[in-house]
Amino acid sequence: DRERTFVMVKPDGVQRGLIGEVVGRLEDRGLKMVGGKFMQIDQDLAEDHYGEHEGKPFFEGLVDFITSGPVFAMVWEGQDAIRQVRRMMGETDPAESAPGTIRGDFGLDLGRNVIHGSDHEDEGSNEREIGLFFDEDELVDWEQAD
Ligand code: CMP
Repeated sequence: DRERTFVMVKPDGVQRGLIGEVVGRLEDRGLKMVGGKFMQIDQDLAEDHYGEHEGKPFFEGLVDFITSGPVFAMVWEGQDAIRQVRRMMGETDPAESAPGTIRGDFGLDLGRNVIHGSDHEDEGSNEREIGLFFDEDELVDWEQAD
């Protein structure tokens, strides 16, 4: 199915100048960007976004990290987009990610893993995250040439 998925270059990825690399890979794959926002996440948004991890030992560090500098939040659309983006990102732990994936090519650290993409096992997390970061009128409906 044609799907929309939430993707974000995290503060480490922005610091390292990897926005273009990430956007380029998703464009090359044939996915279509329908929303993009360079922004600073505040404490409230961070706690909402990562609410499912509240209570875990790494939660506080995760919130500190994601609010430590700007991120580039995006919405991408395409065939089976949620799962395809997950496959292109690699595993949560970059050390377990195959070369050729974004995390497998650019990271080794579990916390600083360059990119976030919505979980495709957890239906609803994707729509929820898109809604947290974007108003409907910030998403652009456009036709991609073949
Ligand atoms: P992400 O896909 O953004 O979703 C939750 C994040 O928590 C995950 O990427 C990791 O960066 C981070 N994370 C998951 N497990 C741990 C852990 N054990 N220690 C530190 N960070 C973690």
